[in-house]
Amino acid sequence: MTAEPGLPFHVTSCSKIKQYLTLKRYNDLKEIRTPSGYSLDQAIRSGIENPDSNIGIYAGDMESYDCFAPVLLPIIEDYHHLDPGWSHKPGLQEVVLPDLDPEQRFIRSSRIRVARNLGKFPFSGNMTPDQRLELEKTVKHAFRNLPEKLSGTYTAFTDLNEKQFHALLKKGLAFRKGDRFMDAAGINRDYPLGRGIFTSRDNIIRVWVNEEDHLRIIAQSPGGDIANVFNRLIQMIKALGDKLDFAFDPKKGFLTTCPTNIGTAMRAGVHIHLEKLEQNLSFLETITRDHHLQIRGTGGEKTAVEKAVFDISNARRLGISANTILKDLHGGLQAIIQAEQKSRSFSGPGLG
Ligand code: ARG
Repeated sequence: MTAEPGLPFHVTSCSKIKQYLTLKRYNDLKEIRTPSGYSLDQAIRSGIENPDSNIGIYAGDMESYDCFAPVLLPIIEDYHHLDPGWSHKPGLQEVVLPDLDPEQRFIRSSRIRVARNLGKFPFSGNMTPDQRLELEKTVKHAFRNLPEKLSGTYTAFTDLNEKQFHALLKKGLAFRKGDRFMDAAGINRDYPLGRGIFTSRDNIIRVWVNEEDHLRIIAQSPGGDIANVFNRLIQMIKALGDKLDFAFDPKKGFLTTCPTNIGTAMRAGVHIHLEKLEQNLSFLETITRDHHLQIRGTGGEKTAVEKAVFDISNARRLGISANTILKDLHGGLQAIIQAEQKSRSFSGPGLG
């Protein structure tokens, strides 16, 4: 793919930003500043510095989505496979769904997260140190006032020494500085300042503060009871939403730093052990595609699959409700488990 003359995208880049940022669009948008002072040049820096970007653009505040709409909208419509007339679909109701793997023969753990940002602050790549601290203060106040059954503790990374931080990391209770894509977008700036994690007393809910998004609200638990994980997540989202003003647009849904996350901003997935389907990846890919799911590596985005443990999650976030995402995941996992079970039994008892 060749870049438009004049735009500094690498010849090898296949990013969406390179595909959709025509020279005319660039010239029309390059002087624009959002209310928090964010420019198109800042938004696309990561895509320019990282030719292997898939998308290559980040929003610097909620207004970026309107200011840079001529380039962001086609990217969003392409990435999320949207039909004309698309719109965010609300729908965040607790569900009853059977546990697909009560004996935990396949599903190791279930994890659902949503990203949320506070409308009145610039987004993560565009924050000053004071703004990060102010955001942390606002969110800490909300954590302190949660209903009893959701309550927990907040740990600021700046309050920890290296040993304590690594102990948390090992338990999956901290997050590191982000990758080079986030780095070029300014998201890692001043790390670990203002960063931290809230953990609920039962350990199911975690909230990352000041990572790629202001908040990543996460519910996770061993095993495959995704309905229970989803219901716990909803309670937390609602409780925090009562206290904080989330960046939201009726058409685009919840607004996030990366345009891949807007809409429900939800990723619902499992770690699942598929020793047989690993030998038949094209079959696994067909099932996941049919159920609108995606496969990631064991360690998450841009990592490899290790020891046949796949990370399988929803591929769609915008244009369908969170409840539909969960239904797709449940149906898809049922099909995957059936296929894996069938090929395990073909190998005969004790052999698979
Ligand atoms: N900016 C990176 C790219 O374009 C990541 C995109 C999606 N991932 C994310 N964590 N937002 O490939």
